[in-house]
Amino acid sequence: MEIQENISLRPYNTFGIDVKAKYLTSVDRVEQLENLKEKFPDERILFLGEGSNVLFLNDFDGIVVRNEIKGIQVVQQTDEYEIWDIAGGEHWHDVVELSVKQNLSGIENLALIPGKAGTAPVQNIGAYGREIKDVLISCEAFDLTNGRYRVFSNEECQFGYRDSLFKRPENKNRYFIYRIRLRLIPNGTPETGYRALQQYFTENHIDKPSIKDVFDAVVHIRRSKLPDPAEIGNAGSFFKNPVVDAGKFKALISAYPSMAYYKISDDSYKIPAAWLIDNAGWKGYREGDAGVHHKQALVLVNYGRATGRDIYRLSQKIIDDIKEKYGLELEREVQIIGRY
Ligand code: FAD
Ligand code: EPU
Repeated sequence: MEIQENISLRPYNTFGIDVKAKYLTSVDRVEQLENLKEKFPDERILFLGEGSNVLFLNDFDGIVVRNEIKGIQVVQQTDEYEIWDIAGGEHWHDVVELSVKQNLSGIENLALIPGKAGTAPVQNIGAYGREIKDVLISCEAFDLTNGRYRVFSNEECQFGYRDSLFKRPENKNRYFIYRIRLRLIPNGTPETGYRALQQYFTENHIDKPSIKDVFDAVVHIRRSKLPDPAEIGNAGSFFKNPVVDAGKFKALISAYPSMAYYKISDDSYKIPAAWLIDNAGWKGYREGDAGVHHKQALVLVNYGRATGRDIYRLSQKIIDDIKEKYGLELEREVQIIGRY
């Protein structure tokens, strides 16, 4: 297990923030974690996948552990379903591509989400009408506080919208997810209800979309509006979409009749934060090298030399403005590492 010292994390976070870690290592076997606490009893530990959902505010005074554990295994294969065990360090999109090639349904809507497979349960990744919780049977984690291995069933993961047990402050950097188990459906019927997908299929005259059609549609839509971190630093949606009750919804929609929304239930509506931020005039706004993307107002970007604090400061201005204009409190989706 190689350990590097005093190393820049810039290549390891998609915002491209240039902070340093005291130590950096990666594991390709979960057993390597067993020695880590012994070797570094007093160091803070940070788990890192591909750094596509983090914002570093300062240097990290501790040890950063990257997940490079590889391997995909088909555990069970029947006509009705296939069960796959996927090592946490696999690149998520590669897993999606492989499943689509085999005409298995379940994760085709989650194409092109950056990051490692082992991180997917942390915020219950979701897109275009699907979340990982819809197909995840369980995940296996190593508990750094007591050196024990533990299996979490889907229910035990306590999934919610961009949320799970692993995201709670007391569990962060405690359970290292090294393997996930998914249930995929051979030749299954794909989920096509999301509005942008429907629009794509109408425009392309596709009546009965296949699993591959859904994958292609998601890839096309995402490429057309989300910035590629290889070109411009970002971590996807910076904020969660707020959920409001019927009373608040009525007040908002009468004040802003053109506001986009999704009805979840009679007393629960999800309001796209992108619409709120866009309508408040922030789209394309730039302050030094920190900015709001010009095609997707929910994505904050680093044009080159922004610091984590620059991005954070901008995010706070947006939160304050949205609160003042609409009386809604935006919550950051991106994981903030360090202190402002
Ligand atoms: P990291 O950023 O490395 O880590 C994220 C958090 O998980 C950190 O708190 C970290 O400490 C913790 N963590 C990392 N590895 C482990 C582990 N093995 N065990 C336990 N905890 C761990 N997300 C969506 O849900 N839907 C989208 O559509 C979407 N689109 C995106 C588009 C772009 C362009 C970008 C840049 C990001 C997008 N994201 C999206 C966010 C991101 O891709 C996901 O959150 C992804 O799962 C993060 O994976 P990662 O390996 O990069 O995690
Ligand atoms: N919109 C605007 N202005 C914009 C962008 C969008 O008004 O600049 C409006 C759109 O017209 C649409 C609505 O906002 O009516 C929603 O936009 P979009 O479909 O692009 O989705 P989103 O709510 O911005 C969410 C997820 C994404 C996920 C997509 C697709 C959250 C926080 N974000 O984005 O996830 O890929 O839906 O399902 O839930 C991520 O988590 O990092 C992420 C990218």
